[in-house]
Amino acid sequence: MAEQLRYDNQVVVVTGAGNGLGKIFAKFFASRGAKVVVNDLGGTFNGKPGGKSGNAAAVADVVVREIKDAGGEAVANYNGVQEGEKIIKTAIDAYGRVDILINNAGILRDITLRNMKDEDWDAIMEVHVHGSMRTARAAWPHFRKQRYGRIINTSSSAGLFGNFGQSNYASAKFALIGFTETLAKEGAKYNILANVYAPGAASRLTQTVWPPEMMEAMKPDYVVPLVAILAHSSCKESGSIFEAAAGHFSKIRWERSKGFLAKPDESLTADVVLRNWDKVVDFRNAEHPSAVFDGVALLEQANKLPANTGGERLNFKGRVALVT
Ligand code: NAI
Repeated sequence: MAEQLRYDNQVVVVTGAGNGLGKIFAKFFASRGAKVVVNDLGGTFNGKPGGKSGNAAAVADVVVREIKDAGGEAVANYNGVQEGEKIIKTAIDAYGRVDILINNAGILRDITLRNMKDEDWDAIMEVHVHGSMRTARAAWPHFRKQRYGRIINTSSSAGLFGNFGQSNYASAKFALIGFTETLAKEGAKYNILANVYAPGAASRLTQTVWPPEMMEAMKPDYVVPLVAILAHSSCKESGSIFEAAAGHFSKIRWERSKGFLAKPDESLTADVVLRNWDKVVDFRNAEHPSAVFDGVALLEQANKLPANTGGERLNFKGRVALVT
């Protein structure tokens, strides 16, 4: 049998660990030797007060109890992820360090754009985007100091592809992709790895939309292996996007068509670009970029273009700051 991945003496913070995926992750890491901060404010699935599943701190306590009963180590934290610094403080106060952060807490406020209220948009951004940022920002100095850290952010297929009635949620989940890709770049020299994944699993969030047979089949346990790998010290991935559901694991990447490159002697008009549209949208020989455009190459190309675009010819002689 293959050796088990273990996390002995490592401290894992799992946000939203009172239910669903987070609960499974917290129990998994504890069973493999980690000390776990079980964060959850015990909210409802939509983050609104009340409701039968919004029973305050109890959910985090239940998970901590289950971990301890099984011989593991865990401590509860009841703050909202919007107060991420308090969650990380719980880890430092209890265990003196933090090694792994799983930004998992989440809510839904599904509604079409036509009916979207500011509060539906803001609540989703607060929990998913601001919450993940504040928790990661609080963990960052500890990761840097110890030159070690693992961050796993939680996106969604709605974020990757869009989904009817989820423009708020999809936007927040897509924001976490840019966030992760940037953290991977900022963390590289400190051995801080950041990855993002889109899960699919039966939980409070999916029970309103999935049929019973799907709820039965799509166990959150099937997502664990990916999170286990990305959180481990042996992980080599960073800035990557994954999917995990029903025992299927895959990686998503960007694809840029080879595109149409205007020639120096060619008029740069919409007509010209339109005549070459098949090249713009042709994905044969595509590239798979993982950084922003190279500023120097862009400038070189732009300087070759004629001044017949309705504007002045770019003739910039100064320094170019590469922002990669
Ligand atoms: P869940 O509703 O079972 O668990 C989420 C937990 O987060 C709850 O215990 C809730 O109390 C907690 N939470 C909510 N707001 C919080 C806040 N402000 N601070 C701290 N805790 C908070 O949901 P599930 O399905 O386990 O979702 C986990 C993550 O996976 C979420 O980010 C969700 O958006 C994402 N996701 C889940 C999918 C699925 O198929 N289950 C699909 C795509 C994404």
